[in-house]
Amino acid sequence: MTPNVIQDMQRAMAERFGEDFEIPLASDGLASLAQHRVHRDFLDRPVDPELLKMLCACAMSAPSKSDLQQRDIIIIQDPDLRARIAALMPQYAWVRTAPAMVIFCLNGRRLPQIAEWRGKPFPNDHCDLLFNAVADAAIALAWFQASVNMAGLGGCPVSEIRNHAELISEWLRLPDKVALYAGFCLGWPSTSGHITPRLPLSVTVHHDRFTDDHARGDIEAYDERREALHPARRQRDPDVWGTANVYGWSEDKAGQYAEPLRTDFGAYLRRRKFNLT
Ligand SMILES: Cc1cc2nc3c(=O)[nH]c(=O)nc-3n(C[C@H](O)[C@H](O)[C@H](O)COP(=O)(O)O)c2cc1C
Repeated sequence: MTPNVIQDMQRAMAERFGEDFEIPLASDGLASLAQHRVHRDFLDRPVDPELLKMLCACAMSAPSKSDLQQRDIIIIQDPDLRARIAALMPQYAWVRTAPAMVIFCLNGRRLPQIAEWRGKPFPNDHCDLLFNAVADAAIALAWFQASVNMAGLGGCPVSEIRNHAELISEWLRLPDKVALYAGFCLGWPSTSGHITPRLPLSVTVHHDRFTDDHARGDIEAYDERREALHPARRQRDPDVWGTANVYGWSEDKAGQYAEPLRTDFGAYLRRRKFNLT
């Protein structure tokens, strides 16, 4: 175990959640999770294809609902394909420049396929199939991120690809019942990045029953703590919402979701032959 791992975990968790934690058990793996941060700035150093394959294997070692394995990863190798994807999101220069990119997909196709191969009916083509596939893809993405971090690389998911879902699905030749979940760009980080504060556990972890009685006060305190640590570089739509004195997380997220976003995504999933009912 790396020296100072307990102190590293304590420091990371205090910064993340704004409270002091006891660390009853420490390890390098836990410390890596506690110190998680995305990276969007990379050295000009390639990611070895064998290393990328190993990271995909770690991601696909993640748990899977009933071991149904309803997720796939597409490694984007073709420079032209990569450039076309990046050109769809010019505001993300790092999607163009990151040394490697992969795309996580939901796979609702394999189960009906094996049912047919095994001569069985498939009466489970409903919303639960989609829900399980989303969960499987999300868990794999999270394990990929954790594996990237533990390997000393860095990276960031890219759900922006879903704003161009139809076109990218076509470019990736996704068949029916396979849909985009998120991209992930990675490489060797060129900066140390920073820990993003999260909501305090008093808001997000409950005991025996759900409650949000004290959520508003706790979220406002979080807004102030987060704003003091990492002041927003710009306020969202000040012409519409004015300029806030404390521009915290809740102000930013309320503004972000005051606009309809990706309202056509259900239609995209239906076109990909997922059943949402
Ligand atoms: C599923 C998923 C999709 C994401 N998509 C994007 C994205 O399109 N663009 C982006 O800049 N960051 C994206 N992110 C990164 C988040 O913005 C980031 O995780 C969040 O700001 C918290 O930062 P942290 O992960 O360093 O704690 C995504 C993260 C997740 C989990």
